Amino acid sequence: MKTLVLGGTGSIGSAVVAALVRRGHHVAGLARSDAAARRLAAMGAEPLPGDIRAPERWLPAVDRADGVVHAATDFGSDMAALDRGLMDALLPRLSANARGQALLYTGGCWLYGATGDAIATELHPFDPLPAFAWMVPALRRVLAAPGVRGIVVHPAMVFEGVEGVFARFADDARSLGRVRVVGDGRARWPLVHRHDLAELYALALERAPPGGCYNAAAIDGLPVGAIARAIARRFGADETPVPRAVDAAAAELGEWARGYALDQRMSGDKARRELGWRPLWREPLADLA
Ligand SMILES: NC(=O)c1ccc[n+]([C@@H]2O[C@H](COP(=O)([O-])OP(=O)(O)OC[C@H]3O[C@@H](n4cnc5c(N)ncnc54)[C@H](OP(=O)(O)O)[C@@H]3O)[C@@H](O)[C@H]2O)c1
Repeated sequence: MKTLVLGGTGSIGSAVVAALVRRGHHVAGLARSDAAARRLAAMGAEPLPGDIRAPERWLPAVDRADGVVHAATDFGSDMAALDRGLMDALLPRLSANARGQALLYTGGCWLYGATGDAIATELHPFDPLPAFAWMVPALRRVLAAPGVRGIVVHPAMVFEGVEGVFARFADDARSLGRVRVVGDGRARWPLVHRHDLAELYALALERAPPGGCYNAAAIDGLPVGAIARAIARRFGADETPVPRAVDAAAAELGEWARGYALDQRMSGDKARRELGWRPLWREPLADLA
């Protein structure tokens, strides 16, 4: 398959590029800088100079692709408008081609809100974190676009070793000798390793039917406090997590940081069943030890 990846230098996108290259896809990656172009080339992808803020400049390249993966954002205050502008350009182009090209859109577990003990499947109603509420109409547009094989993947919290969503804990352990958690530490996070997630993206691109939605959770929910303690132990820091008020975290990091306090569980069973997804990293606490 010829696949164009938007956000191919990011945490999720770079793993997706690597997985697609490994599986024999011809991969092009949008690069908004020379550094990004070099990173993509080093991963075996063809850099396509361009910015999601000016899609008209690189849109013709979409015509040559069998599929597009969208995992690009700058988490800026205008990310909703930026994404809308991108979809306004991309969807009509794909629909006009009428080749059933795939468009894999990245959603996220925070769109389900706090699920408590319920384990969110793809049928769970959305209750998005306000900072990401704009994603719900966007993904509905993707799934409804005529002539397009629209696919949505909702990644759980993405980790890799002490990187990804674990990086803040590791930074605290190293620099403060204690680990802060947003909330009281009892919230559960659904989790997925970056490389397991990338395999799911590749499987979805290759096998998902039009309208396919998949929750990417290898672990349905692990208490944040347990993660914080495991990371503290690994770095020889004080193992008692330090609770942080949610409002204070939102004021310091941005409204999106309220997502860290959501108590969520999410199931990846549909991807396992329908796509043959077999996540390998299912014991993050043991791995941290
Ligand atoms: N990480 C998670 O745990 C997680 C969980 C659920 C959902 N998600 C969602 O997944 C998506 C990607 O997240 P991520 O963690 O992979 O983000 P990330 O690591 O910050 O990567 C963002 C990517 O977007 C690119 N980008 C940003 N602005 C751009 C622009 N104007 N033009 C072209 N490219 C641009 C960046 O390129 P540069 O290299 O040039 O900066 C980078 O490749 C987001 O929508 C996020 O909400 C993430």
